[in-house]
Amino acid sequence: MTEPLFDPMKHPDWISPQTAEWYSRLSLETGEYKYPWMSHFDELRAEDIFGETIASCLNKDASVLDVGCGHGDFTTRFADIAKEVVGIDSMDGYIASAKRQAPDSLTFLVVDAHQPLPFTNASFDVIYTKKGPWLFHNGMNEGYRIIKSGGIALGLYHCGTDGGFRSLFPGLYSPLPDTHLKDMKDKYEQQLYESGLLDCELKMIEEVEYLARPEDVLIKKCFGQKESLKKVVWQKCLHQVEDIFARHAVSKGLRVVNYHVLLSGKAK
Ligand SMILES: C[S@@+](CC[C@H](N)C(=O)[O-])C[C@H]1O[C@@H](n2cnc3c(N)ncnc32)[C@H](O)[C@@H]1O
Repeated sequence: MTEPLFDPMKHPDWISPQTAEWYSRLSLETGEYKYPWMSHFDELRAEDIFGETIASCLNKDASVLDVGCGHGDFTTRFADIAKEVVGIDSMDGYIASAKRQAPDSLTFLVVDAHQPLPFTNASFDVIYTKKGPWLFHNGMNEGYRIIKSGGIALGLYHCGTDGGFRSLFPGLYSPLPDTHLKDMKDKYEQQLYESGLLDCELKMIEEVEYLARPEDVLIKKCFGQKESLKKVVWQKCLHQVEDIFARHAVSKGLRVVNYHVLLSGKAK
């Protein structure tokens, strides 16, 4: 039985991930929404499956909107296959990086997706989000207003990482409940069912990733956290994590499974 590790979430410096404060810190600190740990993937990544799905909905005359585009890395994939590619994000640090890094033909705007959107009616053939705000909730109007009739709405959401990985590091991580994946599937099914979109589909994707080094277990946990907290976590956990990693990793690294859900529907 492994000794429980230090739990960084109980430290006063812990910032809840995916909150405005957390995004703001990341956007000011690095200007990029990019996973900082080293890892390898055996097969197609979930984001590649999502990218192919989006690309299959586009053509040279299409306009596409990326909602919550971060620093625009993924958005750039569609530069050569659509007429107009627009990315929006509420964090100006990400949008500044996107403007610096992406081709000039793409448009990036600082926009809060929960406010009225700066686009005319029926502007986009495809509106997607990769882990950002979903615009097609029942009761929200803006997504339905700016998508063309017959346009496609797509979303990719991360539903957690486990595959046995979490139980190796009790305290630092806690295992996902047995019902977690079913609960996530039910939640997104409900979201799609209530969206009023047509031809709705939901696909679960399991992605196998190998964390390259013991410190990547800690880097993953501390993504977006303050340096002061990282220092404490490294001091308290690294030796134990190195030991567990050495016992369980294979030549490619430590195997984890990332769960995703891919949502799609068509506007009336
Ligand atoms: C998990 S990150 C994903 C970033 C990028 N799509 C990617 O996959 O790398 C979610 C993004 O949504 C943005 N976001 C969150 N709430 C938002 C809102 N209300 N309006 C616009 N962007 C938002 C965040 O700033 C962040 O860049």
